[in-house]
Amino acid sequence: MSAWSSNAKFVSGELEIAGCAVSALAKEFGTPLFVVDEADFYARAKAWQSALSNGFGENAGNVYYAAKAFISVEIAKWVNEVGIGLDVCTGGELEVALAAGFPTSKIELHGNNKSEAEIAKAIEVGVATIVVDSLQELARVSKLAKASNKVQAILLRLTPGVEAHTHEAISTAHEDVKFGFSIASGAAWNAVVAARSGTNLKLNGFHCHIGSQIFKSEGFELAADRLISLLAKYRDEFNEELPELDLGGGYGIAYLENEVTLDPNETMMLLASVVTNSCVANKLRVPRISIEPGRAIVGPTTATIYEVGTTKEVRLENGEVRWYVSVDGGMSDNIRPALYGAEYSVALANRNSTATLRNSRVVGKHCETGDILIREVKLASDIEPGDLLAIPATGAYGRSMASNYNHMVRPAVISVINGTARTILRRETAVDLLALDIEESARTMPSATKNERRDK
Ligand code: LLP
Repeated sequence: MSAWSSNAKFVSGELEIAGCAVSALAKEFGTPLFVVDEADFYARAKAWQSALSNGFGENAGNVYYAAKAFISVEIAKWVNEVGIGLDVCTGGELEVALAAGFPTSKIELHGNNKSEAEIAKAIEVGVATIVVDSLQELARVSKLAKASNKVQAILLRLTPGVEAHTHEAISTAHEDVKFGFSIASGAAWNAVVAARSGTNLKLNGFHCHIGSQIFKSEGFELAADRLISLLAKYRDEFNEELPELDLGGGYGIAYLENEVTLDPNETMMLLASVVTNSCVANKLRVPRISIEPGRAIVGPTTATIYEVGTTKEVRLENGEVRWYVSVDGGMSDNIRPALYGAEYSVALANRNSTATLRNSRVVGKHCETGDILIREVKLASDIEPGDLLAIPATGAYGRSMASNYNHMVRPAVISVINGTARTILRRETAVDLLALDIEESARTMPSATKNERRDK
């Protein structure tokens, strides 16, 4: 059960999550359905917080939960209850945090192209830190902070030039990327100088994020080492030490049965020894260290429940047979297989089956051949319409990247705990789908145009 949430188990062949049988959940809430194991979310968020404290002691900064992995008002409340911070990367994510009453003193604002409106709002509500990504943005933050008569704390996002051994689209800190200031090219140092000379700015330190779904520690080590070398250069040049390093997120989780989810304590212990050694070598005090896990907190907490609609036998060129099992969702609720070639596992969730296994492919209901959730899997040969399939580890970048492609409604998200279930994000309806279409009568047109049209 390595890819499933902690409170998921099979009872007489049926999947139960936190004491709730999935067939009852499907009946009450419909499918596709994201089911979040609430206690598991709290446990994982707390585990990262205590791992950071155990690893770095008095130098532990904040765990900022990366909202992009999945956020809703309810999730933001859970994050706040645990007592950790929140990383938001757009004004929209900031709005959700504000709607949840999230303390702004624990919010970090990210993004490579923040608008003036987003920056102004962040300054107005008093976010703890803005992570600055370009020189233009630095000037904007300085100008807007001055206009509101505030001093804004900032970190500079740096690209340490590390290949993170993950899918190219989710690896962010090698040189040829849109994010941050490159250390190697000198852009990072220019930004440091600019930040020092800008008004109404308080430069607290550096940030990096090298990618996502990473298991190898070398990338984190190399990145930390390069940022710390720059902290040393800063000390040498300006005779003072910057107090903070934020090393981003990216910690890997299990999607398949034979994979593991990184252990927070082991991961933080390792990071702490690398950071400490590097600081000792550079004769620096260890700065405050913050991290931004998203996937590692929410990913494993959630499973998606689908209902099977059709099964079809397809004969392949090599003479073998593949069974296409179509479910009632697909690339609109999980784009990751189509976008990144991400692999997931799946289980028959509503009953036991002793039938022989056959080569199967789990596909969605979109008008697109690439709408594949699981490319190759052995599934029981008696699976039929009405059966439920469950895909674990869909909590991160599932609902948050969901779309209305083909005018599908985005699924509900429910939370389950101690045998009870409640909706935290409702399923969209046809009314939601039509809500943005403007009726001709409601269009605002210059009256001459209206008359012309009427004359025709
Ligand atoms: N901090 C920053 C600055 C980030 O850019 C990200 C993710 C995180 C933290 C959180 O990373 P995590 O711990 O969740 O790996 N849509 C892709 C992942 C994109 C990640 C973007 N940045 C996927 O589905 O795999």
